Amino acid sequence: MPAKAPPGLTLLEGREALREWSAEIPDGTSLGFVPTMGSLHEGHLSLARQAASTCSKAVVSIFVNPLQFGDPEDFSRYPRDPLADCALLADAAVDAVYLPAAADMEASIRRRPAEGPAAERWEAEFRPGHCEGMLTVVGEFFRQVGATHAFFGEKDAQQLFLVREMAAASFPGLEVVSCPTVREPDGLALSSRNARLTADDRKLALALPESLAVLAGGWEGGERGIAVLEEILAASLKREGVQVDYASLVDDPTFHPAGPSLSGPWRACVAARVGGVRLIDNLLLGGP
Ligand code: PAF
Repeated sequence: MPAKAPPGLTLLEGREALREWSAEIPDGTSLGFVPTMGSLHEGHLSLARQAASTCSKAVVSIFVNPLQFGDPEDFSRYPRDPLADCALLADAAVDAVYLPAAADMEASIRRRPAEGPAAERWEAEFRPGHCEGMLTVVGEFFRQVGATHAFFGEKDAQQLFLVREMAAASFPGLEVVSCPTVREPDGLALSSRNARLTADDRKLALALPESLAVLAGGWEGGERGIAVLEEILAASLKREGVQVDYASLVDDPTFHPAGPSLSGPWRACVAARVGGVRLIDNLLLGGP
């Protein structure tokens, strides 16, 4: 826990501190919220900057949520560096950082994804309990923070879809804002997990953005057959050392598997393990 807040940043250590800080915010003020698990990179900071620049007040939470890790080892190995994170957030001009204790996040409501493929497939299938654990903690943050806007990255497209569904059902005053994926110059999507890749695995991890680029090439070349596009994606992602969880096209507005009865646009979603590190990425076909 940082001993002292960097200048300009208020540290809210625990729920009581959040309550006191929120009580000072005049009614009608726009409040932007960015939930994170810390170990911040440029992707998180782009969300924090957008919250700070578009809302009158901005708060970022840092909480490594045990409920969304199936594997306790993955949870314990998740990188943590709140001191460095707070310095970065002060530079991003956010007003406050909420650092809840585990007891502060004991949720009164266990949230489950609404029914449908997004509740059962892709991340839900390969990480049992992950979506429920993520929604439970995000729902609890929404309840506690009372933000007007919440900012999420497009890299976790299924998470964004599920959070939007939950917000529409349970937090009507809250606008969920999506922000583009931030990438390394060679195309790898930023992730806190990238730090765990060895130099060789870092090269192999490029299979994810490269497969999406090959798919985009097929799409731009006029291919529209869903099965063919999925084959192009899977064939390009598959290589030695890359263990593919899924490579699928989904209907972006509904997160149903892409199919002739749906109108799209399609989003290609991939997940794979490289040297024991699980990575995800996606691309909206025909998008900007
Ligand atoms: O995307 C993440 O880092 C997490 O799923 C979130 C939204 C912070 C909830 O723990």
